[in-house]
Amino acid sequence: MEGINSMTRTIALPTLSRERPDTSHACASSRPWGMQRRLIDSHGRVIRDLRISITDRCNFRCTYCMSTDCEFAETATLLTPREFVRVARIAETLGIRKIRLTGGEPTLHPQLEQIIAEIRQATTVEIALITNGSRLTRDSLARLQEAGLSRVTMSLDALDEERFATITRSTTTPQRVIAAIEDCISLGFSETKVNAVLIRGVNDGETLALANLARRYAIDVRFIEYMPLDAAHAWDASKFVSAAETRRHIETSYPLLALDSCDPSATASLFAFADGAAGRIGFIAPVSSPFCGACSRLRLTADGKLRPCLFSTDEWDVRDLLRWNASDASIADRLLEATWNKQSSHGISGTDFVQPRRGMSAIGG
Ligand code: 5AD
Ligand code: SF4
Repeated sequence: MEGINSMTRTIALPTLSRERPDTSHACASSRPWGMQRRLIDSHGRVIRDLRISITDRCNFRCTYCMSTDCEFAETATLLTPREFVRVARIAETLGIRKIRLTGGEPTLHPQLEQIIAEIRQATTVEIALITNGSRLTRDSLARLQEAGLSRVTMSLDALDEERFATITRSTTTPQRVIAAIEDCISLGFSETKVNAVLIRGVNDGETLALANLARRYAIDVRFIEYMPLDAAHAWDASKFVSAAETRRHIETSYPLLALDSCDPSATASLFAFADGAAGRIGFIAPVSSPFCGACSRLRLTADGKLRPCLFSTDEWDVRDLLRWNASDASIADRLLEATWNKQSSHGISGTDFVQPRRGMSAIGG
């Protein structure tokens, strides 16, 4: 494994509860979500996307995400492939249509292929992968595709080798990620995407070079605004580059045309190149223009907690239910309850904003 894992420690999370969790069904009136069997929150949003973080480990230490002395959950606290697949199957019965496998870095999971194959067998949901691309080869991608993976999104924040190393604190090169993008394209994955997070004074000078990847490979390159989710809590407004500024920067070389979105819950506003070049540019602006009102996502962490929002400060446990052999109906109830309690918005810009205890790698991006 590449990277700097020698610097990591393992900590004990709270031990598994010895008390049987409450799996009883109270009357529907005390549980407003108990009346219906689809994932809908108290603000009327319908949840169709489940992001499953299959591991909290990563071979990178991106400065905007993890710290170098990060602490990982004990292996025994992480859900097993069978447990992930069970939640996926139950979630589909409640209306989930898309499952994104994420991390940490999901390709570090030794049973990634098996997880994909079993979700494919148990459900008809679309299966996507969010990865840093560093460990993918043409063969491994072909096997994942054969198992049932249909989409891949890769993170790439810099094309300059030194800058890439500074940001990711890894020994991987950007060329390695580019090779994985080329493999995804040649294998015919639908909608291969690249995500880039810009940080002022670090990699905002690469905006045009990154945008140019969209043209070169006829793919979507999406610029994600830097969010206060870094484990080091080093986010501050001076490092933040807004989507509007990034758009202006790109348009100094490549004028853009806004595209209508056919998906109201899409996180990215998409643009075509005005000169007709292939590829698209996307802006994901959770800080400057939150899209919470249209959010259709629910998250499951690697240690079996449901998080209705990236910025949730509350979590709903499913691990105990899974390990106490609770019924599918009880697990469905927990999914419904977590969803019902989804907060209306993340409130990043508010004065009472509280950064969640977990960083992005422990939540699942
Ligand atoms: N702000 C914005 N995006 C982030 N990601 C990780 N941490 C942050 C952050 N603090 C991105 C990764 C990846 C996606 C899953 O989330 O770059 O593309
Ligand atoms: Fe790993 Fe992704 Fe976090 Fe980078 S952003 S440290 S690749 S989980």
